[in-house]
Amino acid sequence: MKKSIEQIDVREKRVLLRADFNFPLEDGKILDDTRIQLTLPTIRNLIEREAKLIICSHLGRPKGKFDKSLSLKPVADYLAKTLNRDVMMVDDCVGQDAKTASENLKPGQVMMLENLRFHKEETENDYWFAYQISELAEIYVSDAFGTAHRAHASNFGVPAILKPAVAGFLLLSELRHLGSILKNPERPFGIVFGGAKVSDKMNAIYNLVECADVIAIGGGMSYTFHHALGHKIGDSLVQTEYLESCREFLEDARLRGKNVLIPFDYVCADEFKNPSDIRVVEGYMRDLVEIVDIPDGYQGMDIGPITRKRFSDALSACETVLWNGPLGVFERDEFAVGTKTVMDAVSKNVKVSIIGGGDSASAASKFGLKSEFTHVSTGGGASLAFLEGKTLPGIAVLDDE
Ligand code: 3PG
Repeated sequence: MKKSIEQIDVREKRVLLRADFNFPLEDGKILDDTRIQLTLPTIRNLIEREAKLIICSHLGRPKGKFDKSLSLKPVADYLAKTLNRDVMMVDDCVGQDAKTASENLKPGQVMMLENLRFHKEETENDYWFAYQISELAEIYVSDAFGTAHRAHASNFGVPAILKPAVAGFLLLSELRHLGSILKNPERPFGIVFGGAKVSDKMNAIYNLVECADVIAIGGGMSYTFHHALGHKIGDSLVQTEYLESCREFLEDARLRGKNVLIPFDYVCADEFKNPSDIRVVEGYMRDLVEIVDIPDGYQGMDIGPITRKRFSDALSACETVLWNGPLGVFERDEFAVGTKTVMDAVSKNVKVSIIGGGDSASAASKFGLKSEFTHVSTGGGASLAFLEGKTLPGIAVLDDE
């Protein structure tokens, strides 16, 4: 396990907290404050223990240039309001102003550095840039789980120089919940895979197939599986370069005795933007094999009622479920029922239910189900990389207990 902030003395020390405050902003308004809310326990703990707190993060992908719309100033204002104390905003993350401000901090005071990615050296993991940031503080704390799959300066270069480098509460919670899935999930263990592309999920599927009992596949990626089986998929999404991998996976899972569920019916539409015909296309049996044929001119948009029930029943019987990717185009109400119904069943009936972040977290939020899950990861790409069994640079670099 990684060393926690609770295991070190932070009193009167300058502490650099690398947070992940990369979230949607519109005209300076924070559209989803989940990541800040989940970082607050770490921030409050450091303030209460009289650390001199310096917070940094990236926001968006400004490609090394200043972009006012991606300034972290609104985040500093949000924090000041929430914490009911001043949060000093520094216009840069390196340079004399940042250095002077950090040296003048008093115990319990908070300052926020400007967006790290206004310097191209951040994503290049430039040593000199990392060194300058490391000079601002005496202790490094990371709560940036969402960025942990990146080897960038602030989350990899800096903690390689600045020690101790420890984990905050958000990061530890992610490691505990996602780690328990990889190590020893309570069985039966079910996984839901959805989202647009098979390519995004294939490595995670392979890494998890061994320990999973039920594997439910839906969303845009499921049409590639149908195509691989010789079914008709109309105008639905397909990644033809993955047909062989899908066939191999299905065969492999079958030989291992896994219960793999792919949809038997779909809600289809003649058009994505302005559909004039939305209909359910049901599967049928041929020689004891289930077939789904979506007619030409139609695209699958959501799982149908039979599949909703099958998925809900099989997953509800599990002790642990990991969810990664929506089962339909949930952003549109007419195609959201599949994801909502199954999420509802999982969150209510399963003992340990974990959402792997990204779109699935947004879907749970839209349906008001987020708090019903045991854990909703703040990482999209990071949680997927973790579930693929990869070493995440931003975690590996932190001190062990
Ligand atoms: C995220 O939101 O997934 C992280 O903050 C990483 O952002 P990035 O994909 O721009 O590196």
